[in-house]
Amino acid sequence: MPSTAPRRVLVTSALPYANGQIHIGHLVEYIQTDVWVRALRMHGHEVHYVGADDTHGTPIMLRAEKEGITPRQLIERVWQEHKRDFDSFGISFDNYYSTDSEENRVLSEQVYLALKDAGLIVERDVEQAYDPVREMFLPDRFIKGECPKCGAKDQYGDSCEVCGSTYAPTDLKNPYSVVSGATPVRRTSTHHFFKLSDPRCENFLRGWVAKLAQPEATNKMREWLGDSGDAKLADWDISRDAPYFGFEIPGAPGKYFYVWLDAPVGYYASFKNLCDKRGLNFEEWVRPGSDTEQYHFIGKDILYFHTLFWPAMLEFSGHRTPTNVFAHGFLTVDGQKMSKSRGTFITAQSFIDNGLNAEWLRYYFAAKLNGSMEDIDLNFGDFIARVNSDLVGKYINIASRAAGFLVKRFGGRIDDAAMSHALLAQLREAVPTVAALYEQRDYSKALRQTMELADTVNGYVDTVKPWELAKDPARAQALHEACSVSLEAFRLLTLMLKPVLPLLAASVENFLAIAPLKWSDASTALSSQQPVNAYQHLMTRVDQKQVDALIAANQESLQATPGDIQPGGEGARNVAGVEAQGAKAPKAAKAAKTAASSAGGDEGDGVISIDDFSKIDLRIALIVDCKAVAGSDKLLQLTLDVGEEKTRNVFSGIKSAYQPEQLVGKLTVMVANLAPRKMKFGLSEGMVLAASAADEKAQPGLYILEPNSGAKPGMRVR
Ligand code: MSP
Ligand code: ZN
Repeated sequence: MPSTAPRRVLVTSALPYANGQIHIGHLVEYIQTDVWVRALRMHGHEVHYVGADDTHGTPIMLRAEKEGITPRQLIERVWQEHKRDFDSFGISFDNYYSTDSEENRVLSEQVYLALKDAGLIVERDVEQAYDPVREMFLPDRFIKGECPKCGAKDQYGDSCEVCGSTYAPTDLKNPYSVVSGATPVRRTSTHHFFKLSDPRCENFLRGWVAKLAQPEATNKMREWLGDSGDAKLADWDISRDAPYFGFEIPGAPGKYFYVWLDAPVGYYASFKNLCDKRGLNFEEWVRPGSDTEQYHFIGKDILYFHTLFWPAMLEFSGHRTPTNVFAHGFLTVDGQKMSKSRGTFITAQSFIDNGLNAEWLRYYFAAKLNGSMEDIDLNFGDFIARVNSDLVGKYINIASRAAGFLVKRFGGRIDDAAMSHALLAQLREAVPTVAALYEQRDYSKALRQTMELADTVNGYVDTVKPWELAKDPARAQALHEACSVSLEAFRLLTLMLKPVLPLLAASVENFLAIAPLKWSDASTALSSQQPVNAYQHLMTRVDQKQVDALIAANQESLQATPGDIQPGGEGARNVAGVEAQGAKAPKAAKAAKTAASSAGGDEGDGVISIDDFSKIDLRIALIVDCKAVAGSDKLLQLTLDVGEEKTRNVFSGIKSAYQPEQLVGKLTVMVANLAPRKMKFGLSEGMVLAASAADEKAQPGLYILEPNSGAKPGMRVR
């Protein structure tokens, strides 16, 4: 639906944790939100786009401690880094703030106290694991031990990655604290809960779910809510005991708000801070029945927090509720999860530092985003092709072909009569459709339509052949028309690309000597009154070498140190009684750079240097799952945990030696940086090592390697 009436809109992206760098996975979200915000602003709507760092919680507290600084020093440093990265990628936040702010403390307290007044806060004793050495309660992600069901070692406190069963952290056998290594003891403490099981909450949420724009999100919500009558929602534990980096709960000394309580309130805190700076009336935006709009862009892993907790918190603390929540999928690179060992865990900063253009990535992501919750893949071959052939080849070329003649032969002045050409009418007509596609978050379709129009324009140029007209002085008028039509077409294509390519659009506006383009400029045109400037180069092509350098720069060898603190959020796993929210797997621990260049040692005598050996990334892998492969009498399919965000899939020719169930739960050694191989049965992401006799026929037998006890998944073998 094309929007014409001015609207008042508040937009947010999820608040990134303040203990890690912004990477290209995050950028899927910030770019998606930014394109939408820019498209809305181009209508002239009042749009406020706010963000902040999510600064509280145990992982940040422990990370700071490990670095020997205070949590506030850590979050200050990371804020600067995040701000720099968002600026580099043209993310146009009106305010970028922090959840560790006074505004957030006040608002979080207000929300909590209002919920309490409404009778929706209950206190209950909870028995939890406690680290007697570090003197703190341990979040699930900080306890490991043996699975109570299958006995697998080194499992986390909430679920077993070997047999898949879920349990309470207190059920683990031989548990140990990841923080100190000590055996946790059980200790009871009083916790504060948000009574989500209250019929008022359930009724409200059943009504609210109907507002969600995405059918996938609605289905998830229905699943979480269950059929009416069988109240499925568990109360939500919103308190944590000291020591904790966060806000102390009013009237409850030593108790702190759980980070996920004050994180979404952080959206409002950032906006409140903006309102104070710009003289806006905050209350008008957040009161029930407000005629303003409020949208949250998030990843699918945090849907639960945004479609259940957050709307319920708002509703029952006397606020308006979100107009909608838009969730996106996860980014994979070349069909696989981002991986530090493969160099595809690409940080925002490295992208810029290696000389790649941020707008190439904006264009590529936009071309893939369609408003659904499907995962999206960054394929570098496709990335290079789209940027070079679409963006530079089809679009930029139109300007470079037309502008030269116009400036040299006609003083940069447009032929006004040419502005009513039929080709231009076709482009003008398409603009509202493209604008509406952006608003529907189908950027993929918006860009497809724009590029089809660019094809049409190139077809026109190929037909009129300005370079031939230029040879014949008698055809100057035809040349003038051709260049004018081409350049006006270029202006209209720029308008359609502007939400995605804001910097490029600004250079074009400068080159064409026009005011900043907005959607209503579909009905204006270039004019002879305002000559265009000489064409300056607008965008270069991507070079494969730049992509190679980017990947090399991000290639790291992982060294998991026992007891190391896992970065990432403690969030998703800590919700009592729910299993559906996407848990965030621990990310790789400490990382050390290895030299990307190879150092000599190739004497051809079979002897290799230590540098050659160190190129092989050998890792301890936990065999999480093992299956026979239908149609193969040699292969077993292994699911391996090597301490990365996701498990790896490996096909191994060891079927003759092992039954699948013999291997599940065992540790072994794998080559982790072998180029992935496409096999008939799927992609193999590495290789496990096995011993066999030199003459396998004479002396059959195949033996996989198994480390001594104490080795953990992800450890390097060297
Ligand atoms: N701090 C919480 C959000 C609190 S919002 C009140 C958090 N932080 S995060 O840093 O882990 O993630 C920030 C956003 O980036 C989330 O929406 C998350 O889904 C998104 N992404 C993180 N990694 C991603 C990919 N690999 N791909 C796509 N989006 C990703 O969650
Ligand atoms: Zn198990």
